[in-house]
Formats: sequence, structure tokens, C-alpha cells
Amino acid sequence: MTSTSNFKIAILGAGTVGGGVARILLEQSEALGGRAARTLELAGIVDLFPAKCAASHGIDRSLFCGDGDELTPAQAKAETDRLLADPEIDLVVETIGGSGDFIVGLTRSVLESGKHLVTANKALLAKHGQGLFKAAAENRKSIGFEAAVCGAIPIIKGIHECFTGDEIISISGIFNGTSNYIMSKMEAEGQDFATALAAAQEKGYAEADPSLDINGGDAGHKLTILLRMVFGLDLAFDDLEVAGIEAIDSDDVGFADEMHGTVKLICYGERRGDDVFAAVGPAIVKRSNLLSKIDGATNAVRLQNRYSDENVLIGQGAGSLETGSAIVSDIVFIARYGDAALRPPHRSSCKLRPLRELELPCNIVFETADMPGITGIVCTALGRQNINIDTVSHNRHMRDNALFAIATMPCTMAQVQAAVRSIQGEHPNVLLSEPRVMPILV
Ligand code: HSE
Repeated sequence: MTSTSNFKIAILGAGTVGGGVARILLEQSEALGGRAARTLELAGIVDLFPAKCAASHGIDRSLFCGDGDELTPAQAKAETDRLLADPEIDLVVETIGGSGDFIVGLTRSVLESGKHLVTANKALLAKHGQGLFKAAAENRKSIGFEAAVCGAIPIIKGIHECFTGDEIISISGIFNGTSNYIMSKMEAEGQDFATALAAAQEKGYAEADPSLDINGGDAGHKLTILLRMVFGLDLAFDDLEVAGIEAIDSDDVGFADEMHGTVKLICYGERRGDDVFAAVGPAIVKRSNLLSKIDGATNAVRLQNRYSDENVLIGQGAGSLETGSAIVSDIVFIARYGDAALRPPHRSSCKLRPLRELELPCNIVFETADMPGITGIVCTALGRQNINIDTVSHNRHMRDNALFAIATMPCTMAQVQAAVRSIQGEHPNVLLSEPRVMPILV
């Protein structure tokens, strides 16, 4: 039976996302209560800077715990402990961030004190999710994490509630808005990497540590969470091969354009039998693939399903109210279904394998000496590894060097590496740098 008492919520951390959650809870109070079939009550907010947060999000200062403009860490801890000890609080929103001991301990305490937990913290779940879900099950409490993967895109509930009648064969997508914004600016406006990154930071898309955006770490956290859910993998974040966009330059963008494609930071996982091939890294996405059309900070998730074929979800992966709306959707869901919202992790016999072991078409950029016979040497080496060449790009003659790209039919990275090593062994003066390889998504 649904309880008629108020469903009480506490928010820990009222920065960009936590402030957005509070604002939506207050602005939409009546409608949310209708959807949850219970009145949702924001019972208290803890933040080190209550006055500043209240002003920047337009929230009444009285909703913040403690006195004064700022709280010391000890005061914030005391206020948090008081909320966790309050039997009337049903659910705690964690929007502090981080994945160190402090936040792991805090989120465990939320569950152990008999409260549901809702978080946008993908790093926490990627690194410590297994332990937290175990604690949730032991305490018969739910963890809502819709906001942790691609912000406002309802991919978590989509997988948990909507595609349960189907079999997801592969999941791919653009899970990091900052890197996608940078690649879009480099491609459309010829901006250099540093200028595009500074603009993304200014717009508030980037993580506090933007290296996580550009080195693939943030996208990797999100893919780790989805691989566990979709394929039942028992993987640790460090098991996943992750690369970022730091090394991408205008030549890569130009070669991609020549083959009617665009460079994107892609998250990918595909099941073949009991193997799941997965990685995060830059890829050339052909214009025929909808992911190629996702520009700016927008995120997208593409599912290839056994029965329902292709589904693509597109939306905002960052932002105060965008991400806040996903957290509020979890609050409504848990208020409505209570402990029935608890989802035991599903485990399969699938094993994780690196994506480079899957045969995929790829593009290889060669920087070589510029003289007769070079293309022949390179193509012969690829052929000897049984790699079928699709196209050879226009050569860029740069002083004494040449730069050209070869797109292949599906092959593994091991085949490509063997070809490169044979060129380096037999013709030591031909390759002037390590060839750059990117998979091509069609
Ligand atoms: N920094 C992330 C991004 C947003 O750029 O997509 C939150 O995950």
C-alpha cells in the first residue's frame, strides 16, 4: 500500500547539480507530488556555502542547515549526521562528487541509516558501485543513478524498464559533452584544441578536473556503469581500455571528412557470444551513423537490439537543471515504488575483452618519407597481414614528409600492429612516427 505521509528528502551538496535538484523540487512541488502519489518535501540541504548557493539557485536560505554564510567542515558533518539520524528522512541526494574515502563512507552511511540514495556521481559508481549496491540490497534501499550516465537522457530507466523485452547486442554513444564540444568546434570552425576546451569550461560542461573529460575517464566511468547493467559484466573501472581525444589534430579531422565521417570520442560495447568487446576512444563515425550528427555538448546513446533494431536516445548530458531533472525523476520513482524500486544487479557469464580484439574497419594515418614506392611498401605490409584495403587517401606532401591515410576493411588491431612492426623492421627509414589508428563506425 502506498504511504500517505510526506516523502522527505535531504540534499548533500548544492552546487551546480544539487542546486538544480532543489529548484525543481520547489518549483514543481505539486506536479511531482501527483506523479509520486505522495507529497515530496525538501527537508534540508547541507552545503559548506549556504548563502552563496541560496543566492545562485534562488532557494530560500532557511532550507539550508546550519547558521551563517559558511559552514566549517565539522559543522557540515554535524548537520549531515543529524539528517542521517532523522528517521523521518526517506531519501538522500548526494551531489557532492568525488570518489575518495569520504564520499564512499558517506554514501554507505546513507544506506546503512535506512535511507534511499540518489546520486549523479559516475566516478563513485564506476569505482565503488558493486559495494554500494550490496549495501543497498542488505538495507533494502534503492540507489537512483539516472543522472550519472548522460544527464537527462533516460538511459538507466530505459535499460531497466523499457528494453527488458529485447536483447541489447551493442551499445555505443557520445557520453562526454566536453570532448564532443571540442571536436565539433575543431571540425566546424577550425578551432584549436586549447581554445575549444577553454570555451567548454566557460560554458560549465567540463568536470572540475577537465582532464577527465579529454582523457576519456568521465566517459569511461559512464560506460563501466552501462556495461554492468546491459551485459551483466562484473567489471572494475580499471579493466576498461580508455583513451581520450588529446592527440587528435586537424589532419585526423581532415582525413575523416574525406571519407564522409567525423571524429568523435566514442564509448562502445558489443556482445558476441559470451564475449563483450568494449572500449572508450576516438573513432571515425561515418555520416550514415546518427552519432556523427551529434554536435556540441549534446550526448547520445545508440542501442542495437535483437528485436527492435536501432534505438538512439539524444539529449543533454550536463547542466544544472538538465541533470537535476534526472535526479528528480529518480526521487519520484523511489517515492512511488519504495523498496520495490530496488534492482538486484544482474550477473552473466560474459567476459570483457578489449575492443581492439574485435574485427572493425579502421583508418591508419601514416607519416612517411616522401619518395617513390612508399605507398607500395605500406600496402604490401598490410596485405601480408591479410588486411583488405578499402581506400587510400590523398597524400599531403609536407616538405620532405608525406602524410596519408589508409582505410581498411574489418581487421583487428593486432593485424595492424604486425604490419607496422614489419615495415619498421624491414624499412627502418620509412615511418617517421608511430601510425595513428582509429576504428571506423558505419
Ligand atoms: N563533464 C561531463 C561532460 C558532464 O562534459 O559530459 C557530466 O558528466
